[in-house]
Amino acid sequence: MKTWQELNELKKQYRQKVAIRLDEGGETALGTKKREIMVCAGTGCLSSKSRDFIDNLHLELAAHGLADEVEVVATGCFGLCAQGPIVIVHPEGTFYHQVGPKDAKKIVEKHLIGGEPIEKLLYHDHDTKEVISKLMDTPFYHKQERVALRNCGRIDPEKIEEYIAFDGYQALAKVVHEYSPDDVLDQLKISGLRGRGGAGFPTYMKWTFAKNSPGDQKYVVCNADEGDPAPLWIARC
Ligand code: FES
Repeated sequence: MKTWQELNELKKQYRQKVAIRLDEGGETALGTKKREIMVCAGTGCLSSKSRDFIDNLHLELAAHGLADEVEVVATGCFGLCAQGPIVIVHPEGTFYHQVGPKDAKKIVEKHLIGGEPIEKLLYHDHDTKEVISKLMDTPFYHKQERVALRNCGRIDPEKIEEYIAFDGYQALAKVVHEYSPDDVLDQLKISGLRGRGGAGFPTYMKWTFAKNSPGDQKYVVCNADEGDPAPLWIARC
């Protein structure tokens, strides 16, 4: 892929495929599968046997002739690890928590075939005891605005096309095609981005020093500790 146009074509193509996962209201543009089941394969959920659940789910789907209609997507951590393993069934977006390997059969037979959610696996609000059937409606997410982690649980982290479907690399394409080096530095300044090594050094200043220093090749070195001569990383610009 070499152009912004190619990136946007790929985004459009895969956005169609993953549209079933979007809670954007209105129409759900289906991809090749009628349903998708997102299963957390983050470390916490894996340790609670989410991989066994995934294996059982594939077996149950095959046994009921649904393997071609239902896609199983192993995701990264949703964030709500204490309630894992977490499973979301799309297009309705039903959120199940603390799902065990044996629940695969119930989800296929009762939810997918029978059309009924499984009460035992639904999340209940701690105070009101009411059912909360959408993950993002749980109190855990109410005080959060996820920025860098907003796609966790929404995409298969091993498929770069799914990242692109959710606007991956758009900022890079914009910088390359529309921004001058000074525009980039302005944006860094406005963003308030700082190093996380303890000093909170403004990133735009570090990049400005690199831009203003003589030479065709610039190197930005990041150290974990000011007194540590071993760099964590070196970037050539
Ligand atoms: S590891 Fe599954 S929610 Fe965090």
